Amino acid sequence: MRRAVRRRSSATEELEVIAPSKLAINNVSKSFQSASGKVLALDRVSLNVAEAEFVCLVGASGCGKSTLLNIIAGLEKPDSGEVLADGKPVTAPGRERLVMFQEPALFPWLTVFGNVLFGLNLKPNLSRKDRHDVAKYYLELVGLSRFERANIHELSGGMKQRVSLARALAPNPRVLLMDEPFAALDALTREQLYGDIQEIWKARRKTIVFVTHNVREGACLGDRVLLFSPHPGRIQEEFAVELPRPRDINSVDLAAYATRITKALKRIGQAEAVAAE
Ligand SMILES: Nc1ncnc2c1ncn2[C@@H]1O[C@H](COP(=O)(O)OP(=O)(O)OP(=O)(O)O)[C@@H](O)[C@H]1O
Ligand SMILES: [Mg+2]
Repeated sequence: MRRAVRRRSSATEELEVIAPSKLAINNVSKSFQSASGKVLALDRVSLNVAEAEFVCLVGASGCGKSTLLNIIAGLEKPDSGEVLADGKPVTAPGRERLVMFQEPALFPWLTVFGNVLFGLNLKPNLSRKDRHDVAKYYLELVGLSRFERANIHELSGGMKQRVSLARALAPNPRVLLMDEPFAALDALTREQLYGDIQEIWKARRKTIVFVTHNVREGACLGDRVLLFSPHPGRIQEEFAVELPRPRDINSVDLAAYATRITKALKRIGQAEAVAAE
């Protein structure tokens, strides 16, 4: 049944009704005690991510990007502030929010196939055959079908990262938290995965928070690119990328966005964050 639209509601109100925040990060601060003193990794960071939005975080090494992802995942607790997922406080990891870590975190005692299957074993609604079919689908997607029986130690760094990607995608989480997932890959594989991830994101309506050092990658994938600054870690600037999808990493329009974002990074003293493009 169609709801009557209030005649006097503003466009902003209407959009809020359609797209409530999938993730709400409210005033999150986090510090660490290290041998060289206290580090304020995150300082009152606030961010709303809408359902099915793709948000990229860009910033220099050590500015708190992984810390923020870990807090959103429920793997770490903030000192103050809160994270809400679907309006509920995040207190622990959940199957709905999967992280793809910066370093591949695979089980060395399982094969490639076993690693991808692992997350699917927690899905009781899938039959054994379904789980196998889904695992095979994602291994093919990342180009590792030939290696499904291989042991983890037999793989290159880039191959391990692709297994991690397949493992994160296989249980079909609503929210994917990706920490520089493509950094270790060669340019050709990366380009192919840019296409695949855009397709998966669109077809499955995933909400993605994606950390990268590569500005062009951020502009290619993100609806928004957020620039971080370190010590203390803060969000400094935000760019909405209004280009049609699927986006081609090599397009001229995309390069223009990347140039603007790079200039902003330089302005806030974050030039070191920019990957060689
Ligand atoms: N467990 C920890 N103990 C002590 N300090 C930590 C810990 N985790 C992070 N830090 C510090 O917090 C700050 C932010 O770290 P974080 O890993 O979030 O940065 P990052 O933006 O992900 O960097 P990179 O781009 O290099 O991955 C850094 O100064 C780091 O040294
Ligand atoms: Mg990191």
